[in-house]
Amino acid sequence: MSVTLGLETSCDETGVGIVADGVLLGQALASSMDEHVRYGGVVPEVAARAHLESVTAVLRQALSNADVSLEQIDAIAVTSGPGLASSLHVGVSAAKALALALGKPLYAVHHVAGHVAADTLEHGPLPDRSIALIVSGGHSSLLMLGDLATDPIVHLGDTLDDAAGEAFDKVARLLELPYPGGPSIQRAAAEGDPTAVDLPRPLLGKVSERHRYAFSFSGLKSAVARHVQLARRTGAPMRAEDVAASFQEAVVDVLVGKAVAACRDHGIDTLLIVGGVAANARLREVAETRCRAAGITLRVPAPRLCTDNGAMIAAVGDLIVRSGAKPSGLEFGADSSAPLDRSLLVR
Ligand code: KG4
Ligand code: ZN
Repeated sequence: MSVTLGLETSCDETGVGIVADGVLLGQALASSMDEHVRYGGVVPEVAARAHLESVTAVLRQALSNADVSLEQIDAIAVTSGPGLASSLHVGVSAAKALALALGKPLYAVHHVAGHVAADTLEHGPLPDRSIALIVSGGHSSLLMLGDLATDPIVHLGDTLDDAAGEAFDKVARLLELPYPGGPSIQRAAAEGDPTAVDLPRPLLGKVSERHRYAFSFSGLKSAVARHVQLARRTGAPMRAEDVAASFQEAVVDVLVGKAVAACRDHGIDTLLIVGGVAANARLREVAETRCRAAGITLRVPAPRLCTDNGAMIAAVGDLIVRSGAKPSGLEFGADSSAPLDRSLLVR
């Protein structure tokens, strides 16, 4: 058995997780989210300082929760990209210090590969082939996966503009709902009518082959902005709950529609939905219904494993370690815009 410790600091969550042979032994998380609320979004300097202040305590807490000592750690994995540069630096430096002090191998991993691996902690190993819909604050892509540790990650389609989570955050701001926008929209939408506002389903339906699996959310956000501005100018009645519900429904329709089409077209019967937006209750519900109807096995991690955490980085690290891959060494740096083509970024 090998024990892998994972460190995540790419945005506003400081996470440490410990995984052994696909099993989560324990994890701990600190968030600077509350410090960003009054700015309406993550302030990089504030996030980086918060990581620095909490990383040691989070590490100690994770070890204690897992009932594992530092000496029992066999390997360390860290998010080296993508994300906020100053935040990534804190995790990368901490991971290097640990690796050096303990004399253990260090692996630089892609944040999004961690989101995918999080699901294996709950639902076991991935099948030989699967499709993943990654929907987070920075990514919206449909990916074709083989062995997550060793195979290249094939992009079927990506967003042409905003990521899904970014769209949730921007629309929440338009509706004067608090940051982070996703959970705020979900809460408001629960009290609203999803058919109240007629909103577009961008790139869904008849589109060119090139855009069959691509996403675009900025036009949808602009449609919401126009609706809100018109109502404010003319004094027409407008319930934020109805707008939130209509927006959420449009995003969910597009995401699930394209993901199911991708599985059908490629003859793949396992769909994973991962990343912060996968915590969305309506997305989970609609995906469940449409996947069941299409004979697709749907895998979505529990909501607390969808948003950023350390367990997901330990999970992808554990898969990489068990594949026998060569460690990344200590010379690499953080890469804020790391491309998503492999789970192990520095080989
Ligand atoms: O994966 P994540 O925690 O961080 C990134 O890697 O970006 O995703 C954060 C995004 C934010 O945009 C947040 O608004 C969104 O996930 N999110 C949600 C929900 N919870 C988080 N979006 C919709 N519904 C939710 N319940
Ligand atoms: Zn993330």
